[in-house]
Amino acid sequence: MKGIILAGGSGTRLHPITRSISKQILPIYDKPMVYYPLSVLMLAGIREILIISTPQDIHCFEDLFGDGSAYGLDISYTVQNAPNGLAEAFILGEKFIGNDSVSLILGDNVFYGRQLSSLLQNAANIQEGALIFGYYVNNPSSFGVVEFDGDMNVLSIEEKPTNPRSKYAVPGLYFYDNQVVDIAKSIKPSPRGELEITDVHKEYLRRGQLKAELFGRGMAWLDTGTYDGLLEAAEFVSILQKRQGLYVACIEEIAYRKGLITKETLLNHAESMSKTDYGRYLQQIAEEELR
Ligand code: TTP
Repeated sequence: MKGIILAGGSGTRLHPITRSISKQILPIYDKPMVYYPLSVLMLAGIREILIISTPQDIHCFEDLFGDGSAYGLDISYTVQNAPNGLAEAFILGEKFIGNDSVSLILGDNVFYGRQLSSLLQNAANIQEGALIFGYYVNNPSSFGVVEFDGDMNVLSIEEKPTNPRSKYAVPGLYFYDNQVVDIAKSIKPSPRGELEITDVHKEYLRRGQLKAELFGRGMAWLDTGTYDGLLEAAEFVSILQKRQGLYVACIEEIAYRKGLITKETLLNHAESMSKTDYGRYLQQIAEEELR
C-alpha cells in the first residue's frame, strides 16, 4: 500500500500566520505538523509516500524530509496548483499509486491513542473497496457524517448535514483499493468548485464497497486548523510527552522501532538535535534495549 499526505490548502482560518507559510509546517509543540500524519502512515506500515502541497510550499517539505531515506522511507513530492479538492490527490498521484492500494491522510489531521497501530495495520490490509473511519463527536453537523449498519457497512455519508443521521464524523484518513483513481477521475467538481472526497465515497457506497471502522473513546483526533485548535493540540502533545516520557509522532523513533533505520542513523538524528529534549529522547531510545 502507498500513502499520500495532502498538505496544500490555503489555511485561511489561520491568517496571518499562514499567509507566507504552509499550515502543515507550523509547530505542534515540538515538531512540524506534518510529522503527525506522516507518523500515522508509518504506523500503518506504509513506506512509499507522496507529499502534495502548493507550488509555494512544496520546497519546505522537500527540505524537511528529502527523499525520505533518513527515515527508511521513500518520499516523493507533487504540486497541487490550486486547492481543487481532496479527491484531486488521486489524479495528481495516479503515477505514484500505479496498481497499488492507497491511503490518503490530510496534512492537518492529528491522531493519537491506544490501539491506533493495530487499527491502522488492519486498515492497510484492505483488499477491496474503501474504508473510512467514524469518530463520535458532539457537533456532527460541522463534519462529514457516516451512518453504518451492525456489520460496519456504510449506509449513508453526508457533508455537514443539518439533521445528521449519526454522531460519527469522518476524519481525514482513508484507505482505498486501486479503483479510487478512476473514481476520482470520473467525479465532477461540486458547486464550491472542488473534487469532493465525499463524492468518491458515495461512488464506493453505490458499488456496495464502502466500510467504516470506529475510533474508540481513547482516541484523540485533533483539529489544528484554527488558532485555538493549534494551541490545544500543542498542549495535548506537551502534557502527554512530559507525563509519560514517550513521544507522540516521533518519526525517527517509529522508523527505528520498525527496523527501517539503524541505531547509527538514529544516533545521527539525535546528534543533529542534541540541544533539544527531542534529540535527547532519540539518544535515550538508541541506548535502551528495543522493546
Ligand atoms: P481545509 O481545512 O478544508 O482547508 P485549508 O487547509 O485550506 O484551511 P482553511 O479552511 O483555513 O482555508 O483542508 C484540509 C486539509 O486538506 C489541509 O491539510 C489542506 C488540505 N487540502 C489540500 O491540500 N488541497 C485541497 O484542495 C484542499 C481542499 C485541502
